[in-house]
Amino acid sequence: MTYLAKEDRYSQMTYNYCGSSGLRLSAVSLGLWHSFGAGDNYDNCRDMLLTAFDLGINHFDLANNYGVPAGSAETTFGRILSSDLAAYRDELCIATKAGHYMWPGPYGDGGSKKYLLSSLDQSLRRMQLDYVDIFYHHRPDPNTPMEETADALEHIVASGRALYVGLSKYYSDDARAMYNLLNERGIHCLVEQVRHSMLVHPFKDDGLFQTLKELGMGSIVFSPLAGGLLTDRYLNGIPSDSRAQKSEFLKKDEITPELVDKVSRLNDIAQRRGQSMAQMAMAWAANEPSVASILIGASRPGQIVDNVRALVKPEFSDDELNEIETILAE
Ligand SMILES: NC(=O)c1ccc[n+]([C@@H]2O[C@H](COP(=O)([O-])OP(=O)(O)OC[C@H]3O[C@@H](n4cnc5c(N)ncnc54)[C@H](OP(=O)(O)O)[C@@H]3O)[C@@H](O)[C@H]2O)c1
Repeated sequence: MTYLAKEDRYSQMTYNYCGSSGLRLSAVSLGLWHSFGAGDNYDNCRDMLLTAFDLGINHFDLANNYGVPAGSAETTFGRILSSDLAAYRDELCIATKAGHYMWPGPYGDGGSKKYLLSSLDQSLRRMQLDYVDIFYHHRPDPNTPMEETADALEHIVASGRALYVGLSKYYSDDARAMYNLLNERGIHCLVEQVRHSMLVHPFKDDGLFQTLKELGMGSIVFSPLAGGLLTDRYLNGIPSDSRAQKSEFLKKDEITPELVDKVSRLNDIAQRRGQSMAQMAMAWAANEPSVASILIGASRPGQIVDNVRALVKPEFSDDELNEIETILAE
């Protein structure tokens, strides 16, 4: 059936400026790392993307290696884009990345100009796009001079393959160094993607959020639900259709009785706040300076509907934050 986007799609969502740029991002973004691969149900993928767009989510996050096999999430996205969303291309902010292993040999991984340019060309072909809105270096590469990666990112913008560039998983000092290298080349480094949740926050004590704020870069926090651990998904066992059953990135042995007890007590606080566990986890992750968007994953449309409601949130009281910290610290 022909898709027509809901007319009121922009009425509920908040759009935040990404750092000091003029680009606004939906406060909730949808990532296609899981659930959009070649073996996933296409109709469900389509439903999730269109549900998200109808809810005002206009920022979709991909990477060269997303989906099983790697690259298939971009292919799925390209198919849905051309069949349903082509008329809305100018309303979408589409991101992709390169930096992790993608193909064999010396040019399929890292931060070289050779890899980043050819990977982005492949991504554009898979997504059937002329350009992406944001291209990220997916992770720092200690074996490539940062100048070369900066040259590649500059070339990507100058050649029209991407409108903006960003970083992912760079610690504060490296983010500042890359920001400066890009600045010398006349490019404003737009944004960094930061893993940040109640359970996993490798950058929390690094001063990264403050650095990004100082530099005028936005931040996008990803995996705010720790891949599903910070939801009600595992409170009564491990469901057969859950990520822990299906993905190498969430191991069943991470779901210990201690973790379930912790999440269960966090869930009690969420319920007192009138939120689902997922909604409270998202609100917590967004509670840092410079956060422009919270980047979630989903396996079904209903999860996206639930998560978008996190935006209607009461602020955390000091007592709630202390209670949460006490549970997390145990
Ligand atoms: N820059 C980077 O290096 C990097 C790294 C990782 C991720 N990312 C980006 O961040 C995106 C999100 O990552 P993520 O998928 O790990 O995020 P997440 O939001 O922490 O986890 C998503 C999972 O949580 C569960 N879930 C979501 N909403 C739920 C709800 N309301 N109730 C119950 N369960 C719910 C689902 O698990 P089930 O599948 O079990 O239903 C879903 O697949 C990725 O797609 C990618 O775009 C970036």
